[in-house]
Amino acid sequence: MAIIEVKNLSYKYSKKKHALDDISFKVEKGEFVSIVGHNGSGKSTLGKLLCGLLSTSKGEIIIDGITLSDETIDSIRQKIGIVFQNPDNQFVGVTVKNDIAFGLENRSLDVDEMEARIKKYSKLVQMEDFLDKNPENLSGGQKQRVAIASVLALETDILIFDEATSMIDPQGVLEVTNAIKGLKADKTIIYITHNLEEVLMGDRVIVLEKGKIVLDDKVDEAFKREDILANSKLELLKQTKLINLIEENGLNRKEEVEKIIWQSAYQR
Ligand SMILES: Nc1ncnc2c1ncn2[C@@H]1O[C@H](COP(=O)(O)OP(=O)(O)OP(=O)(O)O)[C@@H](O)[C@H]1O
Ligand SMILES: [Mg+2]
Repeated sequence: MAIIEVKNLSYKYSKKKHALDDISFKVEKGEFVSIVGHNGSGKSTLGKLLCGLLSTSKGEIIIDGITLSDETIDSIRQKIGIVFQNPDNQFVGVTVKNDIAFGLENRSLDVDEMEARIKKYSKLVQMEDFLDKNPENLSGGQKQRVAIASVLALETDILIFDEATSMIDPQGVLEVTNAIKGLKADKTIIYITHNLEEVLMGDRVIVLEKGKIVLDDKVDEAFKREDILANSKLELLKQTKLINLIEENGLNRKEEVEKIIWQSAYQR
C-alpha cells in the first residue's frame, strides 16, 4: 500500500490562479522522491498541503491509509516531519538544544530518550558543539543544519525537505545528504530541490510546472528527458552535458560510453 496518495489535488491562494492544478501521484513506503520545478511551480505548496499546514481546496491526500482532514490532522502530523525552505521560520527555542527539544515535548518521551535524540541528531548534522548557542546567531547553513536535526529527531515515517540544504556548503551538503540517505531504508522521503545532483540520491523524480506534474519517473529515465528538465530552468548534470558533447562530436560506441558515464553518476 502506498504511504502517500494524492488524488486530483488542486490549491489556490487566490481566486485567479492555481498554485497546484489537479495533481495525482502515489509514493510507496521507503521511496525517495525528489520534486523539482522552477520558482513558483508549486513545490512548497505541495509540501505544506502534505503535512496539513494548508488545507486542500480540491482533491484528497491519504497518508498511510488515512484521509487528511480536520479530524485526522493530529494523528497524521505524528507521521510527517517537514523542514522548511527558510530556516528562520522554524526556530522557537532560545538555544539549539531547546529548539530540538521543543518538537519532542508533546511526544511524551522520557528525559533520557529526549537527551539521546538531541545528541544523536545534532551529531548527525555536525552541530553537537552548538547546543547551547542561540539559533538566531547561527549562519544560514548552520540554521539549516539545526532545522534538519529538529525534524529528524521527531523520527517520523515520512520526511519532507523543502530546499533544506540550499545554504549549506557543498561538502556539508554531501555529509548531510549522506546522513539523510542513511535513513532511507525505513523512511519515506520527499526531497524538494533545484539541484539535479541531489536528485541522483533518490529513486524517482516529479517535475512540477505551473502547478501541474509534467514528469514523474524513475531518476534514470527522467534524466533522459533533457527537454523537460531544461524547461524547468534546472542546470543539467555534467554527465548529460558530456553525453551531448560525445554526440555532437559523433564518437563511435556512444551507447557504451553513455552507460559508463551514468553508472559513475548514480549515488545509490
Ligand atoms: N502565501 C501565498 N499567498 C499567495 N500566493 C502564494 C503564496 N505562496 C505561494 N504563492 C503562489 O503560489 C505559487 C506556487 O508557489 P510555491 O511557493 O509553492 O512555489 P515553489 O515551487 O515552492 O517556488 P520556489 O522554487 O521559489 O520555492 C506561486 O505562483 C506563488 O506566487
Ligand atoms: Mg518553494
